[in-house]
Amino acid sequence: MRITTISTLVLAGSVLFTGALGASSVRNEPIQPIEPAEVTDPAKVQLGKKLFFEPRLSRSGFISCNSCHNLSRGGSDNLRTSIGHNWQEGPINSPTVLNSSLNLAQFWDGRAETLQEQAGGPIENPMEMAFTHELAVEVLASIPGYVELFVDVYGTDQIDIDMVTEAIAAFEETLVTPNSRFDYWLRGDDDVLTAEELAGYQLFKSSGCVACHNGPNAGGTSFQRMGVVEPYQTDNPAEGRVAVTGKDADRFSFKVPSLRNVELTYPYFHDGAADTLEEAVDIMGRLQLGRVYTEEETAQIVAFLKTLTGEQPRIQLPILPPSGPTTPRPQPFD
Ligand code: HEC
Ligand code: HEC
Repeated sequence: MRITTISTLVLAGSVLFTGALGASSVRNEPIQPIEPAEVTDPAKVQLGKKLFFEPRLSRSGFISCNSCHNLSRGGSDNLRTSIGHNWQEGPINSPTVLNSSLNLAQFWDGRAETLQEQAGGPIENPMEMAFTHELAVEVLASIPGYVELFVDVYGTDQIDIDMVTEAIAAFEETLVTPNSRFDYWLRGDDDVLTAEELAGYQLFKSSGCVACHNGPNAGGTSFQRMGVVEPYQTDNPAEGRVAVTGKDADRFSFKVPSLRNVELTYPYFHDGAADTLEEAVDIMGRLQLGRVYTEEETAQIVAFLKTLTGEQPRIQLPILPPSGPTTPRPQPFD
């Protein structure tokens, strides 16, 4: 019976999930289930999806949002730091775009308040897509297939960068991952977790991980110091939140990352220095809580973390409209 229920819900898909186990029966826990996306403007989401996969928003004509936030790989690139224009070594680990709409702000230091504000950044970042907003708009305006889509969504052929970033953000808002096994447990299913996974969650709560990793995203609700009990050793020059607030107290404070789908988004931490979850959990225990876990305890917490892998967005690869005769040509090797 339980299996039937789950498979029916999974088949019904993330968008349709309303569930026999409604919001009223959610357990009272510091982590809440991820709600499925509600698509109110499907044409805008489809446009944003094309733009997310659009390499012509980069100078090289080769790098898209999906290059570093690969939706086949949990919305990340699985590299310590990203590769940008001209094979430049990026400064920091690329966080996942999955469920990023649930975070209190965007980027490790939270310097963008919204997804729309964030989306303008990489296009004109010389180390990422190395383009300009003007050129990105010029490229789109020269592609007849895009002009048609912008007319459909915005009622005008005068494309501007705010339309581009708004559409991308609308697509990103659909990139949520509901119906993880942990979410079924949160909604009342007692049998869906193994004893080891449940023990891992109890330990995660009792030893204090939830103080920082809480809310539907198991993170993304606050900025916290990396290295509370013991300092974190890294060669990475990023200083975190102080870059935004200018307050010395915020030095080495980072947005607490979501632990949703964390099994897929290795390597871990802002410098990408931890390759495995075991390593990340061990470091968190010692540096944030002053606690050294046994191998068995670490294995339990890791088992719990893997139950946070949800249904990945089902993406059909978008077909992008071909360039027109006046479309500026890519410059991959300058
Ligand atoms: C060259 C690799 C690269 C490309 C291309 C890229 N990003 Fe990113 N993205 C990153 C890195 C690295 C960060 C973290 C930067 C930081 O925090 O300072 C990031 C951060 C983000 C975040 C914040 C997530 C969070 O939880 O803080 C979002 C959302 C995002 N990118 C979306 C996009 C979109 C949309 C595009 C395309 C317009 C894009 N990215 C293109 C590497 C890339
Ligand atoms: C005081 C707040 C705090 C506590 C307590 C805490 N964390 Fe974290 N956690 C963070 C911050 C901040 C980061 C990001 C640090 C960085 O990248 O430099 C992080 C990162 C992580 C990551 C890596 C995620 C990624 O995508 O890079 C994992 C896994 C993690 N924590 C698990 C745990 C576990 C398990 C516990 C309990 C043992 C725990 N955390 C306790 C604040 C906390």
